Amino acid sequence: MEFKKPNHIEIIKSKKSNFVNTFLEKMRIERTSASNLAHVDFENLTFGSVFTDHMFVCKYKNEKWQEPEVIPYQPLSFEPSMSVLHYGQSVFEGMKAYKDDEDKVWLFRPDQNFKRINRSSERLQIPVFPENYFFEGLKTLLNLDKDWIKPGIGNSLYVRPFVFSSQACVQASPSKEYTFIIICCPVKAYYGGEVNVLIAEEFSRAADGGIGYTKAAGNYGAQFYPTALAQKQGYQQIVWTDAKSHEFLEEAGTMNIFFRIGDILLTAPTNDRILDGVTRKSVIQIARDSGIEVEVRPIKIGEIVKASENNSLKEMFGSGTAVVINPIKSFGYKGVNYKLPELENPFATQLKDNIMSIQYNLTEDPYGWRVAVD
Ligand code: COI
Repeated sequence: MEFKKPNHIEIIKSKKSNFVNTFLEKMRIERTSASNLAHVDFENLTFGSVFTDHMFVCKYKNEKWQEPEVIPYQPLSFEPSMSVLHYGQSVFEGMKAYKDDEDKVWLFRPDQNFKRINRSSERLQIPVFPENYFFEGLKTLLNLDKDWIKPGIGNSLYVRPFVFSSQACVQASPSKEYTFIIICCPVKAYYGGEVNVLIAEEFSRAADGGIGYTKAAGNYGAQFYPTALAQKQGYQQIVWTDAKSHEFLEEAGTMNIFFRIGDILLTAPTNDRILDGVTRKSVIQIARDSGIEVEVRPIKIGEIVKASENNSLKEMFGSGTAVVINPIKSFGYKGVNYKLPELENPFATQLKDNIMSIQYNLTEDPYGWRVAVD
């Protein structure tokens, strides 16, 4: 796979990173000569469809990661035999960068995304990515494109690191070449309207011993067909249940899922089928520290239906980097639609405010989750 050759090459000595102790000797940076920034309508962004001026690229060949570079965002050219197109060896991450009122840029628990992309890579037989490349790349890219990050709650830069097999070869075996890229897009809310979910009774997202816990591209692509069927019935997302019995509630589309019965918050434990969401674990911690009782245990659909019928089911919400926390209005199961009540001061709003206050540097961060990019 070839990238367009740069016209102008700049070699910089990277400063010591804020994130990690090791640092790169040098990283080639090629700045764009035609920024797109002035043409973007930041008030009307469709999630994930507008990209910043630059991207980070690093290739793996001859059994090692080569020198990374930051270059203008641009199309890639590749051979039709490129391995990922045939066997789907591809994983990604979702992170966000935030700007505070003093124009300082922050990331939220980036160490968790770094660890998780390598956990995903290992499962897909993709070589793990070096920590210093990841953090230096991130820092260099975010500094170059920092004008794309708008201050104000709700504005952020969605950061998408991903890695895929890029060898031109259709042998059904792990590729010998990979490409690691980070691209960024300015975003607002993920969902434009309300979210209603359908409980999965037939299709499955993940199986025991499978790749459900990874952010493998195919985990998401495989949801599109059942989700399209659910959308025809008026639901925006599916709540995935365990593949064996379809009784235990696991994940909702791109989100982890929480239920509130009475004043207790419930969520499923992570395992090899469920994504270890960064927002999910932050919600659990913040909820517990604010005095909310949280039970992390298998949750049966029967229990949720019963709670809805006796009015003790107060809330359902999804959590994830893209959505942060998204309340769920109703759920469908066995042809019945169960509505969630409208509450004055739901846990979802309180927890979202707490988490966003940390992310946007509006409050103390007792956990050390907020990381400055400078
Ligand atoms: C996330 O929220 O972290 C995601 O990965 C969402 C993405 C699939 C759009």
